[in-house]
Amino acid sequence: RRAAILISGRGSNMAALLDVAAAQPGYPADIALVLSNRPGAAGLARAEAAGIPTQVIDHKAYAGRAEFDTALDAALEAAGIDLVVLAGFMRLLTPGFTEKWLGRMVNIHPSLLPSFKGVHVHEQALAAGVRFSGCTVHFVTADMDAGPIIGQAVVPVHPGDTADTLAARTLAAEHRLYPAAVALVATGGARLEAGRTVYDGDGW
Ligand code: GRF
Repeated sequence: RRAAILISGRGSNMAALLDVAAAQPGYPADIALVLSNRPGAAGLARAEAAGIPTQVIDHKAYAGRAEFDTALDAALEAAGIDLVVLAGFMRLLTPGFTEKWLGRMVNIHPSLLPSFKGVHVHEQALAAGVRFSGCTVHFVTADMDAGPIIGQAVVPVHPGDTADTLAARTLAAEHRLYPAAVALVATGGARLEAGRTVYDGDGW
């Protein structure tokens, strides 16, 4: 599979994916493009250093979401992409775009979905008093952070945690989970059928 990673910022999940793909010769996703909606995204330099083609599609240059998504779709098609990996990509996508890429687009979110969607996720988890949090990889649908779950990893919440300490512990789990989940999707070992994730064999 030819994958594009979409970022908006730091790109540490992107870097984890690039590292695993580089270290494993048979890694099933060929990361062919890193695309950012923000020109200054730190992850772009990291991708360039790894020799991965990068592209910026600045959402501010477009009249609205539909126009931006049309440009995004054209860039993905031009690069021959068949798997879209959202990694800290902070744009809501239109239903037309999510429908077109349904089953071929995944996201990682730093909570155990369906709890704590959206932003300020770790603040939400701490306010709720949960003793465990984690991260979720899911297929992307039109509803934000609500698509069928592919994989999750759990981290403990410690007494005295702040949003920052919980975020750091969760991020380390994200960096382990995402490369494994993307590989599972890229091989077809996890796929979307009739609105559900189905797994080959025992899945995880
Ligand atoms: C991660 O916590 C991810 O789960 C969320 O945004 C953050 C992106 O971090 N969607 P990075 O850009 O991958 O470092």
